[in-house]
Amino acid sequence: MEITAIPRSVRASFKQLSDLFLLAEGGYLPVRGFQGSREVRHVAETMHLTSGEPWSIPIILPISAEEASALRGAEEVLVRDPDDRPAGRIHIEEIFPLDKSHYARHVFRTEDSEHPGVAWLASAGEYSVAGPVKLEPGWRLELRGGLPYAPSEVRSRIAQRGWKKVVGFQTRNPIHRAHEFVTKVALETADGLVIHPLLGETKSDDTPVEVRLACYRALLDNYYSPGHTMIAGFPAWMRYAGPREAIFHAQVRRNYGITHLIVGRDHAGVGKFYGPFDAQRIFSQFAAGELGIEPIFFDTVHYCRKCAAMTSPKTCPHGAEHHVSLSGTAVRKLLSEGQTLPPEFSRPEVARILLESGAHA
Ligand code: ADX
Repeated sequence: MEITAIPRSVRASFKQLSDLFLLAEGGYLPVRGFQGSREVRHVAETMHLTSGEPWSIPIILPISAEEASALRGAEEVLVRDPDDRPAGRIHIEEIFPLDKSHYARHVFRTEDSEHPGVAWLASAGEYSVAGPVKLEPGWRLELRGGLPYAPSEVRSRIAQRGWKKVVGFQTRNPIHRAHEFVTKVALETADGLVIHPLLGETKSDDTPVEVRLACYRALLDNYYSPGHTMIAGFPAWMRYAGPREAIFHAQVRRNYGITHLIVGRDHAGVGKFYGPFDAQRIFSQFAAGELGIEPIFFDTVHYCRKCAAMTSPKTCPHGAEHHVSLSGTAVRKLLSEGQTLPPEFSRPEVARILLESGAHA
C-alpha cells in the first residue's frame, strides 16, 4: 500500500494569518518571509535588515516547543487557519528559540506585562519558524467590511483615480472629530486620501471592528468628498509598539501606494508607555527618502469652544478650560453610562452608532 506523506502543519492564529497574508502579498516588502534569528536580532537592535534596508518590527511566527520538535527535519510547513483550512506554506530556513526579553526591550521599549505587545509575546510559543511564504491557491484572509485590502488592489484603485500625492490614515478607533480634522487638513495638500483602518486583531477593550466599520461608513457617507477619499482595509494587527510601529505603518502603507502617512499624537501608543510625540521623533533616525514614504506630523488636536473650531496648540491661544478632548477611558466611561459623546468630540452619526452598539456598555 502506498503511503502519501502528510505535510507537517501548524495551526495559525488570526495575528499570524495577517502576517502570512501581508508577507505573501507584498505588504511587508522588502521582507518576504518570517524572519530568522540573525535578522530578528538585527532588526530589533538597528531598525534595519541585515541587507541595510530599514525595517522596524521583526516578523516572527511563534510556535510551541512541541511544534518545533515535530517540525525537525521538515523542509516545509503547512499553515492552517483556525477552521483547519490550508492557508499557506513556509519553506523552512530555520527554527530557533525566541529571545523574548531582547525583542520586548528593543521593540516595545519595556518588559512590563501590562503592555499588550509584551503580554502577547509572553503568551506566544517559545520558538519561531522562519522562511519565505506562499499562500495556498484559493485561500484568502477573511476580513470584515467587504473593503479592498490587498496591497495590489489598493494600488490599482489609486492608479485608476490618477492620484499622485496620496495621504494615508492609520486608525484603530472610530473616527472622531480630531481624526477627521487631521485627515482633511492633510488632504488639502494632496490629490487623495486613503482612510486605512487596521482590521487585524486589536486589544479586547478597543472598539469592535464591526462597530468601527459602521462608524467609518456613516462618516464617509456624510462628511467626506467621494472624489478624493477612499476607504481600504489594513489587515495588520496592532502591536501597540508606538514609535516602532509608526515606522512599520509607514513602510507597509508605502507598499499600498500611499505617499504620505499621517502621524499624530501618540501614534500606535498605549497607556503611558510612550511620550505623545515619540512616534514622530523616531522618523529623524532615518535618512531623507530612506523609508520611501513621508510622514505628516500633527500636534494634539481638540475642539476649542472659543475658536468654535478644531484647533491645536499651534493654532489656538486659549486655555485648556475651553477645549473639548476625551481620553479613550473617558469615552468608554461615558458610553458605559449610556451617555452620548459631545458633538464637539464626535459627529452625531458616529456618537449614535457607538451608543446604540452597546460595545462599551
Ligand atoms: S492608532 O493606534 O491607530 O494610532 P488612533 O486610531 O486613535 O490610534 O489614531 C490614528 C491617528 O490619529 C494616529 O496617527 C494618531 O496619532 C492620530 N491622532 C489621534 N487622536 C489625535 C489627536 N487628538 N490629535 C492629533 N492626532 C491624533
